[in-house]
Amino acid sequence: MRAAATAGEIVREVLASPERSKLDPGSDREFYAFPRLVKHVDEGFTSQVTELYRQRIPQDAVVLDLCSSWVSHLPPGEKYKEVIGHGMNAQELAKNPQLDRFFVRDLNREPREWALADASVDAVVCCVSVQYLQQPEQVFAEVYRVLKPGGVAIFTFSNRMFWDKG
Ligand SMILES: C[S@@+](CC[C@H](N)C(=O)[O-])C[C@H]1O[C@@H](n2cnc3c(N)ncnc32)[C@H](O)[C@@H]1O
Repeated sequence: MRAAATAGEIVREVLASPERSKLDPGSDREFYAFPRLVKHVDEGFTSQVTELYRQRIPQDAVVLDLCSSWVSHLPPGEKYKEVIGHGMNAQELAKNPQLDRFFVRDLNREPREWALADASVDAVVCCVSVQYLQQPEQVFAEVYRVLKPGGVAIFTFSNRMFWDKG
């Protein structure tokens, strides 16, 4: 059970300062300015992600797809209460048929104070993106804040990535 006084607090930093830098120090906003309608991982990987979502996310859930794009990997045909997308490119997110609404936010510049209420989301998913976060502790604290008690957070990743941004 969540202790209200500690909700969203950072208990331990997981990255040292040099681990927060990227080979490409340029603006993430500029890097993601044009849409990339590509698949980042293969069908074997995404089908396992979809199956995990099917097993762990209840049908009536409010779902937040963090670091989303034009695909969410949620089970096709599943009717969730609401699917909220977050990402870096509005054109990619607008093409994602599984999102009911979305917001664009650079989490490396603005990791906290998303416009989502405390304990308002049943599930947070984040696929092949966690490695781009330079302030993961702040983002995870925010994930904790918006999740309902008993909610689920599913972060999946592979070693395939934009290496200069990871
Ligand atoms: C490899 S794509 C993965 C997209 C999608 N989740 C998927 O499974 O195909 C990486 C995503 O990380 C997110 N991302 C990268 N840098 C970010 C940043 N500075 N702030 C917020 N999100 C970021 C963007 O949404 C970008 O689409």
